[in-house]
Amino acid sequence: SPEDYGISLQNGFLSPEPPLESLPNPYYAKWEAIAARLQPLLLSKRVRPILNQLPVLSTAYLQTEAEWRRAYVVLVFMLHGYVWGGDRPAEKIPAQLTIPLFEVCEHLEVPPVATYAGVCLWNYKSIFPDEPTDDLDNLACLQTFTGSLDEQWFYLVSVAIEARGAPTIPLMLEAIAAARIGDARTVTSRLQQLAEILDEINALLHRMHENCDPYIFYHRIRPYLAGSKNMADAGLPRGLLYDDGKNVSEYRQYGGGSNAQSSLIQFFDIVLGIEHRPTGARNSFIHEMRAYMPGPHRRFLEHVDSIANIRSFVDSRRSDGALCLAYDACLAMLRAMRDTHIQIVSRYIIVQARGARQAPSVIPAQQPAPQNLATAVPPDSKKLRGTGGTALIPFLKQARDETGEPAIDVW
Ligand code: HEM
Ligand code: ALA
Repeated sequence: SPEDYGISLQNGFLSPEPPLESLPNPYYAKWEAIAARLQPLLLSKRVRPILNQLPVLSTAYLQTEAEWRRAYVVLVFMLHGYVWGGDRPAEKIPAQLTIPLFEVCEHLEVPPVATYAGVCLWNYKSIFPDEPTDDLDNLACLQTFTGSLDEQWFYLVSVAIEARGAPTIPLMLEAIAAARIGDARTVTSRLQQLAEILDEINALLHRMHENCDPYIFYHRIRPYLAGSKNMADAGLPRGLLYDDGKNVSEYRQYGGGSNAQSSLIQFFDIVLGIEHRPTGARNSFIHEMRAYMPGPHRRFLEHVDSIANIRSFVDSRRSDGALCLAYDACLAMLRAMRDTHIQIVSRYIIVQARGARQAPSVIPAQQPAPQNLATAVPPDSKKLRGTGGTALIPFLKQARDETGEPAIDVW
């Protein structure tokens, strides 16, 4: 059952219980004090000196899973603040961050970089706990780099999508079981339910524009989300050196945070039998992103991959009009979601990257923008990369087109 993989029926891939707002043990007060002051520390460029003075704290006082997750959130926000919170990126990560971060990452089976789990799945609270989590208007973030509403909204749209998508997990497992015993009526009705929810998810994605301004996103927020892979233009040509107290590791490179690390969206692809091929020089990027998901979620997707049968079931019943229609509707809705997403990427990245070269002083800088993605704009938009490292539009268009490929009837 999904619960064996740390997935809750209520919240899906979001943390099963409400994320902790701070670590309860006063032993971790120094971490929490920095996390609570991250914005002023970034503004004054004091994150590095403060972290360099910190003692190396032990993870021995982390007890519950919720505490491990909170520790990860605090540590990765401090890590990215450390790397990008100066005039130039910092290449060497001090032991105060590396030692506990490596232990926390090993426990949670995530890489030592800010992943989608750290900024979205484990980083939210309900404004009113008795109101639903899938209501975007009932959500707030625990931790941000900038303190802006725009940054909160950017994360919260994803949180709301994960919450809205949570019921599809049991629904689709039922559909798989029904297909196994030839129960076409149940499969049809579950697919109809999935199509409806995918449509609602698309509507949530459309709401990005309401409170996340593209300029703020591109110039103020996104630079902090960058990883250490393919970041030469931003001043990190070799990646990061993590000092674990014993020795300074060889250079390591990790992709930055990206919604491509959402297990929910990959779950949709898997249950519907959508296949993503390699793009350009890269191996399947979407598949690669599974390494950035929490271990249990990654294993859940592998399990679902091994039992997914809906596409072949529908294929074997091409005369069942209702079934084929419901299946094709799911593909159409997921494709529509990817279309919405492409429009977002063009407005939030492509247009902003162009504008950056024209009039950098039109809007006065209120905050120091880290010296990376935003300021180091490549001269040629073909060189633009997502925080995950893809070539943006060609990659996203291919993923969108692949979404329609298994359709029974070409719409
Ligand atoms: C991938 C940008 C919000 C879902 C990507 C990629 C970019 C991008 C550039 C390519 C991978 C990379 O190199 O990082 C953006 C921007 C957003 C945004 C600028 C908002 C301002 C969202 C949201 C969702 C989402 C809210 C939730 C549904 C995905 C998925 C992928 C992806 C699933 C993997 C590609 C695919 O499966 O089609 N995003 N994204 N994104 N994004 Fe977003
Ligand atoms: N993956 C998103 C980007 O590239 C966050 O901006």
